Amino acid sequence: MKEKLHIVALSDPHGRLKFTYVPKCDVVTISGDFSALRSDRQVEYDGALCKWITSKFIPWLVSLPCERVIFIPGNHDFITEQGWFEQWFNEKLKALDDYYLGSSEGIKPSEKIKYLCYSTYEYKGYKFYGCPASDIMNWAWSTNGDYTKYKVPEGTDIMLVHQAPDWMDLGTSHFPDGTTHNFGSHLLLNALADEPKNLPSLLLCGHIHTGNHMPIVYDLYEDSKTHSCIMANVSTKNEGYTEYFYSRNFVLEPVGDGFYVETWVSPAEGPREIEEYNCREQFII
Ligand SMILES: [Fe+2]
Repeated sequence: MKEKLHIVALSDPHGRLKFTYVPKCDVVTISGDFSALRSDRQVEYDGALCKWITSKFIPWLVSLPCERVIFIPGNHDFITEQGWFEQWFNEKLKALDDYYLGSSEGIKPSEKIKYLCYSTYEYKGYKFYGCPASDIMNWAWSTNGDYTKYKVPEGTDIMLVHQAPDWMDLGTSHFPDGTTHNFGSHLLLNALADEPKNLPSLLLCGHIHTGNHMPIVYDLYEDSKTHSCIMANVSTKNEGYTEYFYSRNFVLEPVGDGFYVETWVSPAEGPREIEEYNCREQFII
């Protein structure tokens, strides 16, 4: 049974954690590229990136003011392609469980933090699916042109996907010299169009840092039924990998077969206020 759910969504922290303001909520989602930029190609077991993950990243995840943190890798997270990574990461969380038992939330790290990589997790009746893919070649989790890498499992409510779709400029980069380029993915849209009934209600992407950050409704039709999804680019960085956007809030309230959704940018506690994004939007999907 789905309940009202408050999500704070962000993406592409690229290791700059203290700049990412996260207000209190039920679930924080991170749509990839968590690795510290300077060490994202260091994939050795117990190398510099592993040490950063255990000494900085995990404590930051544990400290977030929420009940669950759900995150996926992106094209910069080369270490997650190593066969040992997921088990290693989960063992590090487990090792902290006793230590954190008396924390204010009283939630064990291994319960609070969920790493998704082509996998699903259910919380408060919502099925989250994590897809690390992007179209960029010779980086981690590249689709290599295979659109099936974006296929969505049946019953998914919320999809975290690293790549931005080619839809309403969600995947269009805005460069400092004033030029733009659309890197949005057709492959992702093709995979969604293949199975309209599997369209998630919410799709949270990143990767194309300066893509359109307004949430956009995307509809698919099948057998005279409309399937609707709110797509949002929730990257927090600009093209120079510095902080530019705030995290985005979504409150989902089940109504009939769908949702009433209210969304707004997190309060102005952070490096920069962007007035034009700071309004509330309401959707019924
Ligand atoms: Fe990326």
